Amino acid sequence: QVIYLNGEYVTKENAKVSVYDHGFLYGDGIFEGIRVYNGNIFKCKEHLDRLYDSAKSIMLDIPLSYEEMEQALAETIRRNEFRDGYIRLVVSRGPGNLGLDPKRCPSAWVIIIVEQLAIYPPEAYRDGLVSVSVSQRRNIPDALNPKIKSLNYLNNILVKIQANLAGVGEAIMLNAQGYVAEGSSDNIFIIKKGIVYTPPCYIGALEGITRGAIIELCDKLGYKLKEEPFTLHDVFIADEVFFTGTAAEVIAVREVDGRTIGTGKAGPITTHLLEEFRKIVE
Ligand code: PDD
Repeated sequence: QVIYLNGEYVTKENAKVSVYDHGFLYGDGIFEGIRVYNGNIFKCKEHLDRLYDSAKSIMLDIPLSYEEMEQALAETIRRNEFRDGYIRLVVSRGPGNLGLDPKRCPSAWVIIIVEQLAIYPPEAYRDGLVSVSVSQRRNIPDALNPKIKSLNYLNNILVKIQANLAGVGEAIMLNAQGYVAEGSSDNIFIIKKGIVYTPPCYIGALEGITRGAIIELCDKLGYKLKEEPFTLHDVFIADEVFFTGTAAEVIAVREVDGRTIGTGKAGPITTHLLEEFRKIVE
């Protein structure tokens, strides 16, 4: 396995960053999780747009141009003879001193790791996941804007810890007002009476690339879609619930907080969307 580390291709053992790196010391940096299907990068432009937008928002100078970044991704895939799997692209503020001032970090570091993916087993896509809501609240735009895919994932990790304690794979996070925001690393959708709903991102959700792909698919397939705030009550009484994410793709939820969702397995619209999503990527 070869890792792109700031302009060089190194082995996993040699892929090391400084203890003074502000990504490590402060979570100061950004990242993307990207899929490769059949040797093609899925929604590359959308991921790079989100990366460069996140960088601009936090005043982080990415040392590679957009074209150079595309080339670095392609070259890392080529060197690993990689056809299907996951890419983690990280841009950290880079090494500085112990103070938090980014002025002390002369240059950002770019890291590209490709890896096989440990996704949910096939039966989970048919049977659906069990999920729970957690007490951890999503940070909202007046704190750290959730549109910035920053390395600062403690909020999400606290959700993941609560999911682990409940023995479930993904949990549901609300915002401070009690509206459903998203999972620890997935967006959420519900379906009621044939209409597909997902929270608007201002509620406190990442503008997920998979979310975007599903919104497009709904349009193409003729499903009515509404970006509208909703509560846990709406989740409990939904006909179908599913999560979307680069790693998870489209995965049904069969139970939330002990309430059975719909018929208790992946519903027809979720299954249709997953099938059509797989057709796009494969
Ligand atoms: N997840 N919400 C959060 C908080 C996320 O971290 C992610 C991405 C998503 C889904 O976004 P997208 O469809 O662009 O992946 C939503 C990790 C990084 C992943 O699934 O790879």
